[in-house]
Amino acid sequence: MFPIEQALADNAREIDAVLDELLPMRRDPEGRLMEAVRYAALSAGKRIRPFLVVASSQLFDVTRQYALRVAAAIEMVHCYSLIHDDLPAMDNDEMRRGLPTCHVKFDEATAILAGDALLARAFEVIAEAATHPDPRVRADLVCELARAAGSDGMVGGQMLDLLAERSPFGISEITRMQRMKTGALIAFCCDAGALLGKAGDQARHALHAYAHDLGLAFQIVDDLLDVEGDQEIVGKRTKKDESAGKATFVSVLGVERARDQSTMLAQQAIDHLDIFNTEAEPLRSFAQFVVERKC
Ligand code: IPE
Ligand code: IPE
Ligand code: MG
Ligand code: MG
Ligand code: MG
Repeated sequence: MFPIEQALADNAREIDAVLDELLPMRRDPEGRLMEAVRYAALSAGKRIRPFLVVASSQLFDVTRQYALRVAAAIEMVHCYSLIHDDLPAMDNDEMRRGLPTCHVKFDEATAILAGDALLARAFEVIAEAATHPDPRVRADLVCELARAAGSDGMVGGQMLDLLAERSPFGISEITRMQRMKTGALIAFCCDAGALLGKAGDQARHALHAYAHDLGLAFQIVDDLLDVEGDQEIVGKRTKKDESAGKATFVSVLGVERARDQSTMLAQQAIDHLDIFNTEAEPLRSFAQFVVERKC
C-alpha cells in the first residue's frame, strides 16, 4: 500500500518552504499586505492541489523545481479563493485552517487585497523563466490556469454557489456548480503535470478524466464534512451549508447517497489511470484518501 498520509505530509512541508520563499515578508509601509498574504497562505492547509501537480508531474519525469513552482502558484490561487470565500459578503466565516479567517485577523479591505495579491503573484510565478525553459509551456500554463480560475471555472462556480442559497438547484445544477467552483482548479493541477511533461494525448486525457471525477468527489466530501465533520478536526465551522440554505449534494441526496456517489466517483477516477503502471500509485491512493478523509 502506498503511504499516502506520509506522502501528503512530506509534500506539504516541501510546498510550505517554496511558498515561504516565493512570498517574502516586506519591511515597507505596505508590509501589512504581505503579512496578511503570508498569514493566509502559510497556514496549515492540506496542500492537496500541490500534491496533485507533483504526483502528475512525476508520471512524466518533470524536473521537481518546475513542478513545485506550479504547485505553489496553484496553492496561491486556492488560498486567495478561500480568503474571498470567507468574507462577510460571501460565506461569512470566522475560522479557517483552525485559525481566525484573514478578514477577522486583519480587516476586510486587507483580506480582499491579500487575495488579489496572491492571484497576481501566482501568475507571475508561472510566467517566470524558472518555471520551465520552454516559453510555450509557460504560456499554456498561464492560459489554462486563467480558465480554471475565472468565470468559466472557480469564480463562475462561486457565483453559482451564492445563487444556490436562493434557487431550487437540482442535481445537474449542483454538479455543474461543484465542477466549476472546485473541480476546475483540481483538474488544472493534473493538466499542469501533463503540460510540464509535454505528455501525449492519451496520457493527458486519462489524467484529465481522473481529475474531473476526483474534483467532484472532493467537493461532495467537503459538503459531507460540513454536515458530519468534527469542527476541531476540519479546522472550519461546520453545519454552515444547511444554515445558509445552500443546495449541495448532501441537501439533495442525503448523507448516505452523497457518500455512495463520492465513493463511486473516486473508483471511476482510479479506473481512468489504467493506462499507467505503478508510477500512478500515488494518484490512486490519493483518490482513496479523498473519500476517507476527516478534514
Ligand atoms: C476547501 O479546500 C475548499 C474547497 C474547495 C472544498 P481544502 O479542503 O483543500 O482546504 P485546505 O487547503 O486544506 O484548507
Ligand atoms: C469553497 O467552497 C470553494 C472555493 C472556491 C473557495 P466552500 O465554501 O464549501 O469551502 P469551505 O467549506 O468554506 O472550505
Ligand atoms: Mg463557499
Ligand atoms: Mg466557504
Ligand atoms: Mg464547504
